[in-house]
Order: sequence, then structure tokens, then C-alpha cells
Amino acid sequence: MKTAVIYAHPWDGSFNHAVLESALKGIKESGNDFELIDLNAEGFEPAFKKEELALYSKGKFIDPKVGEYQNKLDKCQEIILIFPIWWGTAPAILKGFFDKILLKDWAYDQMPNGYLKGKLTHIKKVTIFTTMAAPRIGYELFIKKMIKSEIINWTLKTCGVKKSKIFPLCNVVGVTKEKREMWLKNVEDYCKNIR
Ligand SMILES: Cc1cc2nc3c(=O)[nH]c(=O)nc-3n(C[C@H](O)[C@H](O)[C@H](O)COP(=O)(O)O)c2cc1C
Repeated sequence: MKTAVIYAHPWDGSFNHAVLESALKGIKESGNDFELIDLNAEGFEPAFKKEELALYSKGKFIDPKVGEYQNKLDKCQEIILIFPIWWGTAPAILKGFFDKILLKDWAYDQMPNGYLKGKLTHIKKVTIFTTMAAPRIGYELFIKKMIKSEIINWTLKTCGVKKSKIFPLCNVVGVTKEKREMWLKNVEDYCKNIR
């Protein structure tokens, strides 16, 4: 079992970074292999340039990071996404990752009737750890719908990933230190038990 950990936060003093460290600790304890994709630290450029977009319909790319990330994901059966909620959804760098990496003929086949047939069927599950300022009720009423419709149903399912799970870490600023520590332990335990 190999897990791709895709991390989208620029600051290593953040709670997201603590979540990342706990996830990696758990994966290492499990004995499983992993690939870390740290989008900010690796200087991933999320916006298409016109030369890149000119190749989009052919499923081709110029940015070498696209090929590098596709190769990493080819070897994985599990994905963990770690990101904060920014304006109701993932930070732009993660949206740009989906835009640029999930290309035709690699992530999906374009059918003559306009439908897309997902090709990432080797990815058995995606787990999302996401933090937000909103309380749980705000997540349940608004944010959950956005994450589910944009990321899980529209993007991941279209590309062939059938199973996804979200762990929302709500009101991160307001909760007690003990609660944050409990979350980190839960993240570690979850990642330790990935099979
Ligand atoms: C640009 C930006 C937009 C944000 N939008 C939201 C939002 O829509 N809903 C929300 O609950 N929190 C929002 N937040 C708060 C972040 O989710 C929160 O600060 C983060 O999850 C805390 O984790 P961190 O310490 O790892 O950054 C936003 C923060 C930033 C910087």
C-alpha cells in the first residue's frame, strides 16, 4: 500500500502543518510507503499559462511538475489531502493541482457523447483532513456541500475515485489545546491503520 499525501498550506507554523506531521507519523508507524506532495514548499505553479492551456485538449503538458506528480500518483493506491478551508473550499494552489494534473488520457477518457470516463481506478480511497474557522454547524450547513460537490463528486468521482472520506476540523482557533491534540492523535491513528 502506498499513500500520496497532498498538502496545501504555505506556513510550517500552522495547524495544518501539525496535521501533516501527524499523518506522516501514522503512515511511517504503519510501515506503509508514501509520497509527499507539498505544493507550496515545492513551488507548484497552479495557474495555466497560455502555452500550457493550448495543449490541454491533447492531454499534454509543459510544466515538468505535472509529469512528476502524475508519476507519483501512478504508484499510489490511497490519497490523503490536507488543506485549510479558504472561502468555503480548498486553497487555489490545490484547485490548480487538480486543473493541471488531472489531464485527458491520464485521469480520464473523453467519450464521444461528452461524458468523461475516470481512469484513476487504482486509487481506492481519498481521505480529506480539512481545517476551518467555522463551527461544526457552519460546516454541516454550507462548507460540506461545497467540498462534496466540487472536490469529491465533480472532480474525484469523475476521475474514477469511488471512495472518499472527510474529516472536518472545525473552529480550529476557538477549540482547546486538548481538543487539537486529540485531533492530531486521531489523524495519526487513522493513518497508522490505512490498509
Ligand atoms: C483566505 C482565507 C479564507 C478563509 N476562508 C474561510 C472560510 O470560508 N470558512 C472558514 O471556516 N474559515 C476560513 N478561513 C479560516 C481558515 O480556514 C483557518 O484560519 C485555518 O483553517 C486555520 O488553520 P491553520 O492554522 O493551519 O491555517 C479562511 C482563512 C483564509 C486565510
